[in-house]
Amino acid sequence: MKALLIFGTRPEAIKMAPIVHEFRRTIGVDARICVTGQHKTMLSNVMASFDIKADYDLNVMKQNQSLNDVFVRIVGKLDPILGEFAPDIVLVQGDTTTSWAAAMAAFYRGIPVGHVEAGLRTGDLFSPWPEEANRRMTSVIATRHYAPTHAAKKALLDEGHLPDAVRVTGNTVIDALLYMHQRIISEKPLRDSLDKRFSFISGSRKLVLVTGHRRESFGAGFERICSAIRTIAKRDDVQVCYPVHLNPNVQEPVHRLLGDLDNVSLIDPLDYAAFVYLMDRAHLILTDSGGVQEEAPSLGKPVLVMRDTSERMEGVDAGVSRLVTTDPATIVTHVNQLLDSPERYAAMATGKNPYGDGLAARRIIKDLLTWHRSISTYESAVTAAPVAMQLPSSAIG
Ligand code: UD1
Ligand code: UDP
Repeated sequence: MKALLIFGTRPEAIKMAPIVHEFRRTIGVDARICVTGQHKTMLSNVMASFDIKADYDLNVMKQNQSLNDVFVRIVGKLDPILGEFAPDIVLVQGDTTTSWAAAMAAFYRGIPVGHVEAGLRTGDLFSPWPEEANRRMTSVIATRHYAPTHAAKKALLDEGHLPDAVRVTGNTVIDALLYMHQRIISEKPLRDSLDKRFSFISGSRKLVLVTGHRRESFGAGFERICSAIRTIAKRDDVQVCYPVHLNPNVQEPVHRLLGDLDNVSLIDPLDYAAFVYLMDRAHLILTDSGGVQEEAPSLGKPVLVMRDTSERMEGVDAGVSRLVTTDPATIVTHVNQLLDSPERYAAMATGKNPYGDGLAARRIIKDLLTWHRSISTYESAVTAAPVAMQLPSSAIG
């Protein structure tokens, strides 16, 4: 089997890394990696964290790029690679412009698409924007759908996808998280270097770890988020640490509104080991990130989601995460409740992670091999048959 894994942003790389590692242990597969370079520094951080090298790099990123810029450059640069390598399957992950553009380019070449983290839905096409649309469109053209949870599978079946094309695998982010967490625990030099690097984190204050970058929050949303963080930072029992996303629409308001506060550390985006280490040290996490919502419960950390909607309601339903919108008063109230009430804190910190068990990548590759075998068997049978009605292989399975 020839597989082409295509990704380009930080979260896709983290969530594809376990699949790359699992392919390395699998014989009889030519699995290659194409990075679009939708992100540059933030992608190379992850590639280094997981010791992954790309076979192809489309190098598309530009400062403050528009969605259409990214889309057009990816499709144009990817097409010759699809032609030359001619994979049996293209794997994409999630909901970014990279995922959607790569899926579309493969589909136009008649190449089947496997969608990792399929079936997440908010039901609102504009929240998150444009990710909800990217996901839905990718589902329409994918051949294999890897749903992280049963709720995601149900969403796909409700849209008319055949049960046999959908597998519940767990989310590969949990594979990635457990791998990195175990390394931090077991590799003393790594642990020591992280302790040293983050020696500015106070042992006596409660650490509030923040991330935020959503396009629908640019402008007023970020002003509100920063106003909430300013209020939280007035407490003398907390320290806020915010690795700031490199998007200029995030950098500018965050540095302007929070840059002068002593107990708020604004730092560069972190490599994965460092971020997992900080999540582990955090008392609570304030975020609008999809991946962080999924990871935090595995480390027993309450996660407050600064969004109006989430496609990850499993965490909210399990009581391990809560939607707190971008309204400053709502955010501050929820943070204070967790800081001041041990009972409320314990209720969120001891819940079960609903997103996976660390074996998602294995399930995905097992399914791909079975699917590919069924197609190969079918193709040799029709080639041998006297009358062949040619069907595209993507129509099978
Ligand atoms: C993208 C994804 C979003 C995902 C997020 C993860 C889309 C539509 N959105 O949003 O779903 O949650 O990535 O972080 O695909 N930049 C750098 N260096 C980097 C990375 C980004 O300078 O390493 C800056 C550039 O100015 C770039 C800008 O950030 O133009 C925006 O990057 P882009 O990938 O277009 O959007 P994100 O907001 O990161
Ligand atoms: N992350 C990281 N370094 C950071 C911040 C986040 O490695 O400084 C990781 C985090 O653990 C999660 C992923 O990046 O796995 C989330 O990426 P992001 O928030 O950019 O995108 P989203 O998940 O919202 O699509």
